[in-house]
Amino acid sequence: MPKLIVTNRAGEETTVDAGEGLTVMEAIRDNGFDELLALCGGCCSCATCHIQVDPAFADKLPAMSEDEDDLLESSDYRTETSRLSCQIPFTDDLDGLKVTIAPED
Ligand code: FES
Repeated sequence: MPKLIVTNRAGEETTVDAGEGLTVMEAIRDNGFDELLALCGGCCSCATCHIQVDPAFADKLPAMSEDEDDLLESSDYRTETSRLSCQIPFTDDLDGLKVTIAPED
């Protein structure tokens, strides 16, 4: 089972196991991080699943869609490594991925 390392808004790092077939958003939410609201349930229409991803994994992430890009543009906290976590399938390839939950807009 691939592992995901999540830093919450308090700066605390936790390693969680993610089941097969989940997105990064689902893996975070299902492990009890209720600060990741993911209000639209993964439909790429809310931006409340905003995370910042360890740049070391940039090459392994799926390309960003125009919709995701537009939504991230609406955040005051967008950085070079921002992504919407519901748009990233958590595959074995991403084992050890480090993400930080972005501040709330
Ligand atoms: S959960 Fe709404 S955009 Fe990701």
